Amino acid sequence: MTQPEHQRLLIIDFGSQVTQLIARRLRELNVFSEILPFNKVTDETLREMAPQAVILSGGPASVTETGSPRAPQALFDMGVPVLGICYGQQTMMEQLGGKVESGHHREFGRAYVEPAEGHGKDGIFSGLFDSGREEVWMSHGDRVTRLAPGFAVIGTSPNAPYAIVGDAERQFYAVQFHPEVHHTPNGKRLLENFVRLAGFTGDWTMGAYRDEAIRKIREQVGDEKVICGLSGGVDSSVAAVLIHEAIGDQLTCVFVDHGLLRQGEAEEVVSMFRDTYNIPLIHADESELFLSALEGVSDPEVKRKTIGKLFIDVFQKHAAAVGGAKFLAQGTLYPDVIESVSFAGGPSVTIKSHHNVGGLPEKMGLKLVEPLRELFKDEVRALGRELGLPEKFIGRHPFPGPGLAIRCPGEITREKLEILRRADAVYIDQIRRHGLYDEIWQAFVAILPVRTVGVMGDGRTYDFACALRAVTSVDGMTADYYPFSHAFLGETATRIINEVKGINRVTYDITSKPPGTIEWE
Ligand code: XMP
Repeated sequence: MTQPEHQRLLIIDFGSQVTQLIARRLRELNVFSEILPFNKVTDETLREMAPQAVILSGGPASVTETGSPRAPQALFDMGVPVLGICYGQQTMMEQLGGKVESGHHREFGRAYVEPAEGHGKDGIFSGLFDSGREEVWMSHGDRVTRLAPGFAVIGTSPNAPYAIVGDAERQFYAVQFHPEVHHTPNGKRLLENFVRLAGFTGDWTMGAYRDEAIRKIREQVGDEKVICGLSGGVDSSVAAVLIHEAIGDQLTCVFVDHGLLRQGEAEEVVSMFRDTYNIPLIHADESELFLSALEGVSDPEVKRKTIGKLFIDVFQKHAAAVGGAKFLAQGTLYPDVIESVSFAGGPSVTIKSHHNVGGLPEKMGLKLVEPLRELFKDEVRALGRELGLPEKFIGRHPFPGPGLAIRCPGEITREKLEILRRADAVYIDQIRRHGLYDEIWQAFVAILPVRTVGVMGDGRTYDFACALRAVTSVDGMTADYYPFSHAFLGETATRIINEVKGINRVTYDITSKPPGTIEWE
């Protein structure tokens, strides 16, 4: 919460699944924002944070229900611009003296908004409505039926007479649709107009972030020692290099091999850190520990929690070996933080327990250093480039902390892991050979908990089936399957079946996120 160096915008989260996209769009506009769940924002928080503007997110509740969430009333007396989105619009209207009705006006999907009479092309509308109307994404069950005093309708759609409303004097705006999602193609422009009206200059850049992060790490750590959990992924690597730049050899990295890594991964990571950066690195081979703890476990959440707990134990052991490290560094990203806050206090539903956030410091007696807590994945990549990390590392597809465990639905066996590793290596090799690696956000094989019958040569086979996954995404929050050509898929399936003993059937997963998730568990 301490970023006095930047102009800041507060997003009050009412539990929409797309709240993070508001922050995301604002980052693209070089505006620093923080998301807090509605029940963590008191009048006092508002005073302390002194945001320059506030956005109220959407959410699943209905303002017509008793006990449904509200924004702190003091917000509306602070003299700062406020933008309400969907549920945010409704609670804003209700709290300021308007009326919202439930039920009869459900609207999901594409709609078109036009400016209301007398509203033109400046202010909140600047650069919009060039073709007369704007495509927007609606997703709401309730709607405003009477405006709060001081507000006027400034945009309408056939089903949403109050699609955009505003009180220009107080700079309060509210929209029924979601400007933050990709399905509202010019939504970012609307957000940009709002932040410009609110006086944001766009002072959030990667160079500034790097200098500030280094200064903060030095300030936080002093002369103490830090250990950093290194997974080989982009996040922890960038965190490690950044921290090394800040405090040099006070940093020791610990790379835990939990036996759930991809082929050749341990060697690659270890050599990059030792040889390229000369950063002290402990290579902890703990595969026996993890794999035996996972024996017989097939529930995804139990897998995640088992792995998360063992990581703590292993770190504890190595923290002691480093001799008095007082800090643990992690490559925690912004989406992880927001999700974790939501688990604890906010209204959004737990989809998966990410293993690298929460709970660690109390149990370990170590304080956390998390210099990437405020960044999205692609921003971490930009920071990595700023720090001069090899492109090969920066461009790596994300790899989840629980590793292959969550790509092996059902029970994990060493046999399945070995087959999975080999199939994954062939698949990634195919993608690289065809020059597709950088077009894809993430690609991997999942080995399925099912054996199928096949015929090879003249013999019967009874081997595992696997699924190939490849998605495009901007930030991992939403994703689309990658449209490989049939020729590519056919060639890959043939190679996997020929080269990987133990697999006799290959499928391609064409689920987007949502409704699916990227990983299988
Ligand atoms: P899902 O499967 O939730 O994944 O759509 C979104 C992105 O997050 C990665 N992922 C994780 N990363 N720890 C991590 O560091 C985890 O526990 C974890 N679970 C999923 C996933 O690979 C994808 O990039």
